[in-house]
Amino acid sequence: MPKKDTAVSSLTLEDMRRTVSQSGLRHIAFIMDGNGRWARRRALPREAGHSVGTKTFKKTVTLCRDYGITTVTTYAFSTENWKRPEKEISEIMRLLDVYIKEAEDDNEKNKIRYIFLGEKSRLGDELREKCEYLENLTKDNTLVLNIALNYGGRDEIVRTVNKLIAEGKKEITEDDISANLFTRLSPDPDLIVRTGGEYRLSNFLMWQSAYSELYFTDCLWPDYNETELRRAIVEFSKRQRRFGGV
Ligand code: IPE
Ligand code: IPE
Ligand code: MG
Repeated sequence: MPKKDTAVSSLTLEDMRRTVSQSGLRHIAFIMDGNGRWARRRALPREAGHSVGTKTFKKTVTLCRDYGITTVTTYAFSTENWKRPEKEISEIMRLLDVYIKEAEDDNEKNKIRYIFLGEKSRLGDELREKCEYLENLTKDNTLVLNIALNYGGRDEIVRTVNKLIAEGKKEITEDDISANLFTRLSPDPDLIVRTGGEYRLSNFLMWQSAYSELYFTDCLWPDYNETELRRAIVEFSKRQRRFGGV
């Protein structure tokens, strides 16, 4: 049977806030995929998709905050994305640089705590320092925005285990690992949304996603909008999470 489309547009902001609160949606994560295809379909260079995607990203974070979600994580650049052409990589890093500057300027208004997930040294000194500055500047804000940048789930686990070995641990627990991941300040994601029509995690939050609800949409990231976000949240609120119980 075709899925009945929920009339999400008619929901008020209060309805959305209630849905988020009653469903226990504290942490939403986005695999922002489809920028390149969005641009190609318009006969534009892939970089144009990343540029529009950055705006979509800002709007989406604001909506999540309005709905009362306290932790948002976005996959901006993976450890595997270094395989891309130099021109595309440098444009993504330039957009990030602009984004960081705007985040600094808007700090008083937005009150977002920025945390970058991933090893920063690969970003070069200049960008690394800007990321660290933003993290430090916003460290007392309560809404957490994790930006996964040079992030890979396997890389994160290997780094964590090596860190624990270096500390002299002979045996490690699940809590040891969770407490030392890049995401150590956030609860595990309740919901992971992937745009762009691929059904995979692409090395995103491999440890943390053990019991996350997954939601896939064909919508390409630059086209992602409030209706799409509402659909994902409403669908999440109908899922039954059992965590292995009955
Ligand atoms: C996601 O969009 C953004 C990054 C990986 C940086 P893509 O650039 O992967 O877009 P598609 O999947 O090629 O359309
Ligand atoms: C995942 O998208 C990474 C980001 C969204 C940053 P990719 O486009 O890199 O993933 P694959 O290659 O399709 O698996
Ligand atoms: Mg892609």
